[in-house]
Order: sequence, then C-alpha cells, then structure tokens
Amino acid sequence: MRVSVVGTGYVGLVTGTCFSEMGNTVWCVDVNEEKINALNKGIIPIYEPGLSEMVLRNRESGRLNFTTDIAEALETSEIAFIAVGTPMGEDGSADLQYVLSVAKSIGKHMKRHMYVVDKSTVPVGTSEKVRSAIQEELDKRESDLTFDVISNPEFLKEGSAIADCMKPDRVVIGVDSPCAEAAMRELYKPYFMNNDKLFFMDIPSAEMTKYAANSMLATKISFMNEISNICERVGADVNKVRLGIGSDKRIGFSFIYPGCGYGGSCFPKDVQALIKTAENFGYKSKLLQSVEDVNHAQKGVLVKKVKERFGDDLSGRVFATWGLAFKPDTDDMRESPAITIINSLTDAGAKIKAYDPKAVNEAKECYLKGNDQVDYVDSKYEALKDADALILITEWKEFRSPDFYEIARLLKNSVIFDGRNQYDANRVAEYGIEYHQIGVRLDPLSDSFSGSDDVDGMDSKNIEAEVRR
Ligand code: UDX
Repeated sequence: MRVSVVGTGYVGLVTGTCFSEMGNTVWCVDVNEEKINALNKGIIPIYEPGLSEMVLRNRESGRLNFTTDIAEALETSEIAFIAVGTPMGEDGSADLQYVLSVAKSIGKHMKRHMYVVDKSTVPVGTSEKVRSAIQEELDKRESDLTFDVISNPEFLKEGSAIADCMKPDRVVIGVDSPCAEAAMRELYKPYFMNNDKLFFMDIPSAEMTKYAANSMLATKISFMNEISNICERVGADVNKVRLGIGSDKRIGFSFIYPGCGYGGSCFPKDVQALIKTAENFGYKSKLLQSVEDVNHAQKGVLVKKVKERFGDDLSGRVFATWGLAFKPDTDDMRESPAITIINSLTDAGAKIKAYDPKAVNEAKECYLKGNDQVDYVDSKYEALKDADALILITEWKEFRSPDFYEIARLLKNSVIFDGRNQYDANRVAEYGIEYHQIGVRLDPLSDSFSGSDDVDGMDSKNIEAEVRR
C-alpha cells in the first residue's frame, strides 16, 4: 500500500520504517527540515536498536522516503498516519495543536479519498476534531473529496520498538466504516499469520484503550513501589515479595519491578491526561491521582537514602551515577528519574560523575543543561574514582554484572545505592560493599555494613541510628 506518516518522532519514524519493511511504499513527513535532511543522508536522530539498519535498507530500496512537503507525500498515498506529539498542556490535558495542524494540512493537500489514521495518543473524542479540521479545509477548497478517520494507538516500548512493531502483541483499530476496516486489515494482515490479534472496535474505545493500557502499567509500577516502601519499614524484602506474588498467574511477573519511579514520554503524560479527561467528564479519579503521586515521591526515595547515610548537607561529596536514560536501550531522558535525583543531590551541595552508554548528549544539551556540578565520563569505572558512593539509576545490561572488586577499590566509601535492585545483596556484601536497595531495609548489624566505618563522621552506631529512624 502507499502510506504517508506525518511526524518523524519516535513513533512516526519507527512505524513508517516498519511499514516499508513489510513492502509498503512510505513517505515520512516532518516540518523540521534539519531532521529530514539528516534522514535523507542516513543520519537517524534517535537511538533505537535495529532502527538505523532498517531505515538505510528501505531507503536504498526506494520504499522509504523522507520529505518536508506533505503535498508531495499525499500525491500518491492512500493512507495518512498522524504521528505527532501530544505534549502535556499546562492543565495536564493533552495538547492537540500539532495533531489538528496536521489534519488541516491533510485537508488542504489531499488529492483522493484518504484514510486518515490517528496514531498519536489522543483523548477520547479527538477523531471528531480531526474530522472537522479536515472537512473545514476541504470546504474551503470547495472539494467533494471524502475521507475516513481511524484510530490506531501505538504500543511501542522504547528499546524494543522494532520488535514490538514487527511482531505486535495486538493491533487496536477504531473504525466507523466497513471500507476503513478493510483497508486497515490489508495493511496489518502481513504482521499476523492469522487475524486474531487484530482488534476492531469503535473509535472512542480504541482511543480509550491506549490510555487504559498505559495507566494500568503505571498503576502496577506505583503499586509495587508503594509495597516496596512498606516492605522497607516492616523489615520485609520486596525482591522476595515480588517473586511470591508474580508466580500467581493472575498477577504475573511483568511490570512489578520496584524502582526509582517510572519516566518516559508516555506514562507520566498519559496518566495525567486521563485524569484530566475524566475530570472534564465530571469524574475524579482518586486511583490515578495516587499513581501519579506515588511516582512523584518515588523519584525522591534514593536521594532520601543518600541523605540518611551522608547527611542533609552533601557539600564536598561526590557521587558516581550509572544511568541517565529513563530506561535501558534508549537515549531518551524525558521524565527520567535521573533528572530529579541528580538535581536534588547537587542542590544539596554534591558533585556528580555521571555515566550512561547513550544518553550523555541528551543530558548535556537538554535535561541537565546548566547544572555545572555534573561531570560526564566515558566509562562506568571512571565515574567511581574517588566518589563517595555509587548510585545506580538505569538498569543497562553493562551494569548487571560489574566487577565488584573494582567498585570497592575505586570508591572512596564502598557504598552502592541501587535504584533498580540489580544485585544479590549477599554477593555484594562479600566484597565489603554496603548495599542499599529499594524496598529492603538494610540491617545495620549485618555484614553489609562492615565496610562503611571509614565514612567521615558516620560510625556504625550513627548509621544504625540513621537507618532505624
Ligand atoms: C510505554 C508502554 O510500555 C508502551 O506500550 C507505550 O506505547 C509507551 O509507553 P516506554 O515508555 O517505552 O513504553 O517504557 P516502558 O518499558 O513501559 O517503561 C516505562 C517506565 O516504567 C520506565 O521508566 C521503567 O523503568 C519503568 N518500569 C517499568 C518500572 O519502574 N518497573 C517495571 O516493572 C517496569
């Protein structure tokens, strides 16, 4: 089929590229000339495993094209996807200005009947706004061209977006006409040997599905973080509790990992937007508000542990941080817990030596720009030299099995604060490293504490008092 994808952000670029991989002819459109020029030279603006090779392969074959000219793209397209951002507006609702501006451009430039598919995450009712925006432009042109509006939310996970796109768990499609259903079935059929993962429904239900899915996942995480905070206080180990509950098939193991809070471009924005949509319809969602509140507080948990250990005034302290991206396998730092953690530590007087395999440029140029207390280093071990402690924020694979001898040797104090519970506490203790995790109370009388007496002004008794507090 001939497809236009408007918006070459994360979703648009991955989706367009995967459509071309299936043999469709795709035009990816963006107003950002610099981005399109770069893509036309084979330079990919984001890091996503497998994406670069797939873009180059399909560009060479002529199936994948990049342009700033939407009219050129629509010239031959049967389907146009809207895949632009819906950032959080000032009141928490989704800002639809980019979606509606693309809808207008489609109305202005379409040359034939079009299937206009909304892939951007938008609140229930947006398809009607898209429909009106297109129709208004057609009326201005005095055109009697027809079109269908379709909702097709994306469920891509950064870091595995290509696999998610090529082998989706499901595809949700909201339609209100049989020919729209037939067109979408044709486009998605090659992704499935049978069609039982293709869910057709009405448009409001498809729009709502996306928010419900992300809010459910965010709820699982905040629930687990809440349990981890209780575990810590009552002396239970959340790692064991997680295994205990995950083995119940009704609960399952996925998305119940406690941590230092969820981030990314979706969960924080979408939970907030659903709260706002519900409010607009006269319903106050106490549960979703708590999911948000718990997550906000969770981003402060590691800092609280650091301060309990080293004191509120961190002047003169240096901390090594491993990980900046909001999760592994991406350079994306949107809403990353690293931003809150690092800024809170430097506000308290500390200096940071930060390492991340991919996100250093994002941090320098955007998310931690202006924080001159952060030094960026090229390797995880370089970050440790003379640091007071290591703080693990993102669970990149290269952090999973580190050389604990090297950690203990390079750190000034052998202390790890692990925001992702990556290590076996008993193994870490064998290296004389004091190991703080999420949702596990560190027993001050255990071996884990043996290597920590050299921390200035903090002997075991002080620590015990601090930790018990
Ligand atoms: C999410 C949804 O998973 C995807 O379906 C949707 O299309 C977009 O939003 P993404 O933002 O790429 O994808 O990240 P995801 O892997 O879902 O992780 C989100 C956040 O939750 C990360 O900060 C991650 O560290 C955190 N998380 C995830 C946990 O803290 N614990 C878990 O058990 C799982």
